[in-house]
Amino acid sequence: MLKVLRCAVQKSGRLAEESVRLLKDCGFDLETDRSSLKTSARNFPLQILFLRDDDIPTYIKDDAADIGIVGENILAERNLDLQVYEKLGFGRCRLSIAVPNPSNYKSVGDLEGVRIASSYPRILQRFLDQKRTTASIYELSGSVEIAPSIGLSEAICDLVSSGSTIASNGLRELEIIAHYEACLIGKPESDPELLELLAKLRLRVTAVRRGRCSRYIMLNAPNSAIPEISKLIPGEKSPSVLPLADTGWSSIHSVVNENDFWGVIEKLKNLGAEGILVLPIGKMVA
Ligand code: PRP
Ligand code: ZN
Repeated sequence: MLKVLRCAVQKSGRLAEESVRLLKDCGFDLETDRSSLKTSARNFPLQILFLRDDDIPTYIKDDAADIGIVGENILAERNLDLQVYEKLGFGRCRLSIAVPNPSNYKSVGDLEGVRIASSYPRILQRFLDQKRTTASIYELSGSVEIAPSIGLSEAICDLVSSGSTIASNGLRELEIIAHYEACLIGKPESDPELLELLAKLRLRVTAVRRGRCSRYIMLNAPNSAIPEISKLIPGEKSPSVLPLADTGWSSIHSVVNENDFWGVIEKLKNLGAEGILVLPIGKMVA
């Protein structure tokens, strides 16, 4: 029988939508009606399992899934022997200690002897040890933000993304412990068929990720500026240069990184570039 790669993603929550979008952008034709917790790609031997994100590493470890998309935070908290194949550039968040607003706590040192509710007891304990602060950790598996208002704890340690959950629960951030993002994980794989499917999936994920961080750029420039412009926007190897009908001018095509984009545009203009066009890139294969 043909092997199927099983990929676990978050059923609902911060990572759910973006995880499915990434897989769809990779060209996997998925039915995404979440009433079923299992779906198969119609055009690739890939099965998607919709699970609670916190359980995904355990499913992989116990061989109920081959790979998964989770926050790095989940791996950092639990010492499982899993591999991070790729950071995925979405689901960015921070693990923070938060306290009621208003309150007199100014730093972690002020939390000596208090109770801190958290779903991340190990990371929190390591952080408190570093700060030489003794506090008791009250472990909860969810809805941690409510703990201070119902008298369970004086502080919390939980993920913050937009900050709206802590704000709407009357809390303020006291200290950031770590930053995380979504990543593709799996366990050391030995089955050759699964390894081949995994390699194909990773090629697609990398291509989509690179496409998302890059822009296709086209511009006209005087021929005298070509050497400088080529240095500025080398792209993969070197830019394509096509002569314009106007003598002495060329059209230059290349790829720029989204992060450097505006700085590069300013420099291009200073070098005499005109008619700059910028287009999104669907996929970029090395
Ligand atoms: C996290 C965290 C907060 C929320 C913060 O939940 O537990 O509840 O996100 O986001 P905000 O700052 O944008 O309001 P997650 O999606 O990881 O789900 P879970 O904790 O239920 O697994
Ligand atoms: Zn979770």
